[in-house]
Amino acid sequence: MTNRDDKTLTSSGFYVSQEAPIHSGNPIPTPTAPAPDILRCAYMELVVTDLAASRNFYVEVLGLTVTEEDEDTVYLRSLEEFIHHNLVLRKGPVAAVAAFSYRVRTPEDLDKAVAFYTELGCRVERRAEGWTKGIGESVRVEDPLGFPYEFFHDVEHVERLAWRYDLYTPGALVRLDHFNQVTPDVPRAVGFMQDLGFRVTEDIQDEAGTVYAAWMRRKPTVHDTAMTGGDGPRMHHVAFSTHEKHNILAICDKLGALRMSDAIERGPGRHGVSNAFYLYLRDPDGHRVEIYTQDYYTGDPDNPVVTWDVHDNQRRDWWGNPVVPSWYTEASLVLDLDGNPRPVVARTDDSEMAVTIGADGFSYTRMGDEEKGFKLGNTL
Ligand SMILES: [Fe+2]
Repeated sequence: MTNRDDKTLTSSGFYVSQEAPIHSGNPIPTPTAPAPDILRCAYMELVVTDLAASRNFYVEVLGLTVTEEDEDTVYLRSLEEFIHHNLVLRKGPVAAVAAFSYRVRTPEDLDKAVAFYTELGCRVERRAEGWTKGIGESVRVEDPLGFPYEFFHDVEHVERLAWRYDLYTPGALVRLDHFNQVTPDVPRAVGFMQDLGFRVTEDIQDEAGTVYAAWMRRKPTVHDTAMTGGDGPRMHHVAFSTHEKHNILAICDKLGALRMSDAIERGPGRHGVSNAFYLYLRDPDGHRVEIYTQDYYTGDPDNPVVTWDVHDNQRRDWWGNPVVPSWYTEASLVLDLDGNPRPVVARTDDSEMAVTIGADGFSYTRMGDEEKGFKLGNTL
C-alpha cells in the first residue's frame, strides 16, 4: 500500500482512508437539533400507472410476498422481513417515488426528526397511525435535497418467512438492501446525510476532487442509500437482496423464459464499489430495481472508506463490462408531500458518463496504461 495525500492505494487498485475526503463548498447548515437515530432503510412507496402490470412484475416475476392489498395499493415484503412491508405500489397518474422510508429506533426519534428538519426550514408533516397501512405514526419531510423522506418506529409485525423454504423460488428476494438517489451536488448531499447520522463507506472521485457518487450507511452494510451525481432530485433505484449469486442468475433465466429479457437493463455482474453481485431491472413504469447480494460488513467505527478513481473501469463493474448510457441518464421522478413531481435541477459538475466513455472520456484497466485494456473503448 502506498500513500497519496490522505488516501492509501491498496493492492486492489482503489484507495482507502479513515474519513471520507469529501468537502462541500456549498454546505447545508448543520442543525443544532440532534438527528433522529435511524435504524435502516425500510420501504419505498412507488407510484405506478398500471397496478396490475406492476403487481405481476413484483409478485409473479420477482416473487415478493403480498402482505395486504386493495384496489389502489399493494403492500409487499421480502422473505426475511418481519415488518409489514418493504415496498408499496400505489396506483397514480405519474410514475414516481412518494417516499424513501426509514425506520427509527424509538418513537421519540420522530420528535427529533421534526425538530431536525424544521430547523432546516423544510416542510414537515406528521402522519397519524394507519395513514400508511401497517405503519404507526410517521413523519414525512421534503428534505433539503428535494427528496420525500419518511421516518417511523411503530409498525405491524408480520410472519418472517425465512424458514418457509416451500415458498422460496430460485430467485428469492430476502431483504430490502438500499435506495439510490440522484442529486446534482454530491458533496452537498453527503454533508447533509452525515449530519443526519450516515457514514460514507465508498465513493467515486477524480484527481481534481470532483465527487461522482457516494455510498452511505446506517445499518452495517455498504449502504442504506447512495448519492449518484446527476440531474435531480430523482430516484435511481431500489435494491433487494438475494442470498447468493446463483439466485440472480435464476432471475435472468426466468426473465428469458418469460420473454421479458428487455426488463434487464444492466448485468448480471460484479460491482467494484461494494463488491456485491448485481443485476439492474426496469419495472413496467421504468422504475429501476437492483437485485444485489454479498457486500461486506461495515459496522466497526474505524471501517475504512474506499475511494475509487472515476477512470478505473472496474469501479462499477469489476469485470470491466460497459455501463449502458440509460443507467447513467434515466431515473424516476420524486414527489413532494402534495403528490406533485419535484422539478429536476441539472448537474453542473462533470458527468461520470462524459468523463469515462466516448470521445472525451477515458478509462483504464491498469493504472498508467491508457492505450490498452479499456474494454468499453473497444466496443463503442
Ligand atoms: Fe445499488
